Amino acid sequence: MDARGIPKAELHVHIEGTLEPEMAFALARRNGVTLPYAGVEDLRGRYAYRDLQSFLDLYYALMDVLREAEDFYDLAAAYLARAAADGVRHAEIFFDPQAHLRRGVPLEAVLEGLEGAIRDAEGVSAYLIPCFLRDLGPEAAMETLTRLLPHAGRFVAVGLDSAEVGYPPRLFTDVFARARAEGLRAVAHAGEEGPPEYIREALDLLRVSRIDHGVRCLEDPELVARLAGEGIPLTVCPLSNVRLAVVPSLAEHPLPRMLEAGLMVTLHSDDPAYFGGYVGDVYRRSAETFGWDEATLRRLGADSLRASFLPAGERDRLL
Ligand code: ADE
Ligand code: ZN
Repeated sequence: MDARGIPKAELHVHIEGTLEPEMAFALARRNGVTLPYAGVEDLRGRYAYRDLQSFLDLYYALMDVLREAEDFYDLAAAYLARAAADGVRHAEIFFDPQAHLRRGVPLEAVLEGLEGAIRDAEGVSAYLIPCFLRDLGPEAAMETLTRLLPHAGRFVAVGLDSAEVGYPPRLFTDVFARARAEGLRAVAHAGEEGPPEYIREALDLLRVSRIDHGVRCLEDPELVARLAGEGIPLTVCPLSNVRLAVVPSLAEHPLPRMLEAGLMVTLHSDDPAYFGGYVGDVYRRSAETFGWDEATLRRLGADSLRASFLPAGERDRLL
């Protein structure tokens, strides 16, 4: 089934994860960066991951080609054009400020490039969500928030990503409290590789509006009942979960069980250049695998718009 005509919101995409190998080599040439790969095919051949960390190692290494505002512009412009063609009417885009600041790339270059592409995009609106790299710890996150806050009007929320196990949400309670006090909403990756307890902490301590991934909630029936009862959106990325060995195969993905449990599930791509599909592919492959009809896909699309941070009036126009 072609799901591209279904209006949808992309709520879980890391802009650095949309860096296709061809663009990585083009930017490397433009910026005089030498990549340790023989070419596009050699690089693509390395897209086989054991787990989240083995993916993150490649993801952080390859983003070294992103240096100038123009690079972030080209990256986001290519992503937004592709998203619009997939029926994405609105995107809430993660980026990793610390991964750029630590390479000496100024925050202003990142923001200028991403915002320019958002301004010029046709048929799709977008908000930005900076994420803290949880494996760099809460002090680094607080320092980063201090650098972000003068630009707070340029973001809709803060997020939490990177290596999950060993870095529970509770470590970031003060960071998120400060961000929320400044009027930002909050989201967090939780329950991707980490236990259900991390999902509870994200809700109770970080006071997030959505959980990114959240698939491991199924191990805790009480938590499932709470998430379903409160209608907390879970931004699920099935192709990512397969590639990162969170689940053994798409056919074995718990998406059907999550829907049966009454959870507010939405479908997303995570790092589409690395995981073999943009959101249109995620919808199509999920429908094929689980035998979903068009009405189910339309409901998922509508739920993704409802779970977005768009003001009610704008959201309702897209529904
Ligand atoms: N950063 C980029 N993709 C991620 C993922 N799937 N989990 C955690 N951090 C990430
Ligand atoms: Zn993610």
